[in-house]
Amino acid sequence: MNETLQWFPGHMKKAQRLIEENLSLVDIVIELLDARIPVSSQNPMLREIIRDKPRLIVLNKADLAANVDAWLKKFRDENLSAVAVDAVKGSGIKQLIALAKSLAESKTHKLTKHGAKPRSARAMIVGIPNVGKSSLINRLAGMNHVKIENRPGVTRAKQWIKIADGLDLLDTPGILYPKFDDADVALKLSWTYAISDEIHDLEPTVCKLLEVLAEKFSAGLIERYKIQISADGHELLNQIALKRGCLQKGGNIDLERALHLILTEFRDGKLGRVTLDEL
Ligand code: G4P
Repeated sequence: MNETLQWFPGHMKKAQRLIEENLSLVDIVIELLDARIPVSSQNPMLREIIRDKPRLIVLNKADLAANVDAWLKKFRDENLSAVAVDAVKGSGIKQLIALAKSLAESKTHKLTKHGAKPRSARAMIVGIPNVGKSSLINRLAGMNHVKIENRPGVTRAKQWIKIADGLDLLDTPGILYPKFDDADVALKLSWTYAISDEIHDLEPTVCKLLEVLAEKFSAGLIERYKIQISADGHELLNQIALKRGCLQKGGNIDLERALHLILTEFRDGKLGRVTLDEL
């Protein structure tokens, strides 16, 4: 499901309430981040919400990202468990399960030490819209053909999926909201499709993306479109539109078609691997 961000305060409040309810049921939290934007895909309040619960950072869409190892090192240097995965193809999943299990074991060990009956540890996945929560849950559940509903507000019984010995996963992910009031973060969320294309003006968004790619990842642009690199996003947009035949009947550029083509190809990784946040 493509659940891009809705900017309605009602939705956000409801999502936050659901997350708080579900967090009270779990021992560990799997925080799913987009490996292309490991900072911009975070929710600044999460630490406060989960307090001392063990947290596993999972950098998803690692197949689309450029600098994954350096980011993993950064998180590990901060004493956080971190792993990179591709939830669609399944790479990194075994390591994720092993790390989640070892975090969970320390938690269940503590519980039994304090006299509680032994039980499986419980985990839940949290992350911003479109980061790959459903894909990861399906992958962990080993049933990729099943699409799991994740709309806030769908009431049903809690279901747990056994993902390893002694570790169960809540089948409903928590939807977190990123810091989209920061203009720079909002742009990155639009490029990676956490924010829907319908709610903002695509032309400046795409021009800015092209400028960033030209500055930092020009090889992908040159290889895909065979264009001259320029620092001007409009100039790059025009060149790409012409190269790819995005033209209207009279020969004018078909702007809408060019904008969607560039965004789709970028999001599919056809312009090369990128990481848009700075270490
Ligand atoms: P969500 O529950 O967090 O909202 O995200 P969801 O799993 O629905 O995934 C959002 C989109 O991201 C999907 O694409 C999904 O296939 C894609 N995706 C998830 N994980 C990865 C990954 O590790 N690598 C890559 N390259 N893509 C990933 P979609 O276009 O909405 O749907 P579809 O392609 O599955 O039809």
